Amino acid sequence: MHERFRFKSKDELILKARELGYKLPFSYDISPLLNPVVVDGFQILNRLVVQPMEGYDSSADGSPSPLTKRRYLRYAQGGSGIIWFEAVAVTPEGRSNPNQLLINKRNLKTFSILVNESKQAADNLGRRPLLIIQLTHSGRYSKPEGKAKPLVAAVNPVLDKEQPIVLTDDNLGKIQDQYVTAAKLAAGSGFDAIDLKACHGYLMVDLLSAKLRENSIYGGSEPLKRFHFMLETIDRIKAEVPNMLITTRLTISDCCSGGFGVDENNQPDFSEPLMLVEELLKKGIKLINISMGSPYFNPHITRPFDTPIPGQQIPEEHPLEGVMRMINGTSVFQKRFPEIFFVGSAYSYLRQFAPNVGAAVIRNGDASFIGFGRNSFAYPSMPSDIVKSGKADPSKFCITCSGCTRLISNLRPGGCVIHDREIYGTELKKLIADGK
Ligand SMILES: Cc1cc2nc3c(=O)[nH]c(=O)nc-3n(C[C@H](O)[C@H](O)[C@H](O)COP(=O)(O)O)c2cc1C
Ligand code: SF4
Repeated sequence: MHERFRFKSKDELILKARELGYKLPFSYDISPLLNPVVVDGFQILNRLVVQPMEGYDSSADGSPSPLTKRRYLRYAQGGSGIIWFEAVAVTPEGRSNPNQLLINKRNLKTFSILVNESKQAADNLGRRPLLIIQLTHSGRYSKPEGKAKPLVAAVNPVLDKEQPIVLTDDNLGKIQDQYVTAAKLAAGSGFDAIDLKACHGYLMVDLLSAKLRENSIYGGSEPLKRFHFMLETIDRIKAEVPNMLITTRLTISDCCSGGFGVDENNQPDFSEPLMLVEELLKKGIKLINISMGSPYFNPHITRPFDTPIPGQQIPEEHPLEGVMRMINGTSVFQKRFPEIFFVGSAYSYLRQFAPNVGAAVIRNGDASFIGFGRNSFAYPSMPSDIVKSGKADPSKFCITCSGCTRLISNLRPGGCVIHDREIYGTELKKLIADGK
């Protein structure tokens, strides 16, 4: 049964998890979150990660706007060891919305400025987070002008309401060129690492699951053929952008029909994702950020919440089941591949208990980093509060109300309507006044 977060103590929370059949990890000592670690030669100050969170607020040409910059400067001052920049499109047709960031030769300077100012803001406080850019093509969920223009690896009878355009191998070859170009530009603008986004239903993960793609070098029943596009893109980036750390935000289960990492009942089956990670390790990938589900199809799996956006159904399952699915799923990968640093997701539902749960996860070796998505919108300075005083302020945590998602679903700039009210509470009021 779904339930809003009403847990007043850690005992109530742990008891609920137990009633649901789970052992929720918990540690009073949150110092494991502050252990520094070296990843591929880069010294990372702590185990806290700002997850990629799209703000739908770029300028029309895809450049970061003043609102985008404000977000990243808040993160840079916030003290996380890694700032994982939001999805940035590699091509205009692959934008998820008209205000998704888009990197190209014409606006490169604006990205360099954003990266430099972020580094400067962190340097001023004596810190230096790892800055990762998430490169994406939105594939089935492309909406470059605000209207759906789906571009898919293969038709999915459940997900595709209308006949989408199926990309040819030739189209994919050109998209791969755009990934490589974007990676070069990202390196030139000062990012430390490149994430090839392979989650949440977008093109890269659509290819990983494209069993119904016929007569193609990039799909079919054979897993290695479906992995080929991603692995080939990594090879090309390694060759053409040497010394750049490459990573991926990877779904370990789409949990939907025809998706990646699912069994015949659409439940997680990690056999192919584990096979893929084995291949990624052979390519030298040492950092992977785990996610599951799709914000379009089963959002409660990607981000367990109290309240869905208006018009969306309240899920059957308890949000703690979503939290535990992600913790346990990430653990399977971390235990199998101890040489890879895995980032865990979906901690925001846990509010003020999230640091304790995350610390226990790190201590138990079930993940190497703990990512915060919505809570980074709500409380970007949580890491520096933990560093300074050994604890966070319970009143500042995200309350998983879905206000930020409601804004972006309506193509408005996204941020925390509760704790960053002046800007985003006002945006929500406008939305409500428009009857949305
Ligand atoms: C408004 C919003 C925007 C998001 N944008 C991205 C994105 O650009 N890239 C990505 O990989 N995930 C994105 N996500 C998913 C988050 O990174 C994260 O996985 C999810 O919110 C669960 O973590 P949390 O419980 O800490 O919020 C987004 C989520 C939200 C709510
Ligand atoms: S609007 Fe704020 S409190 Fe609500 S889900 Fe988003 S970040 Fe959390």
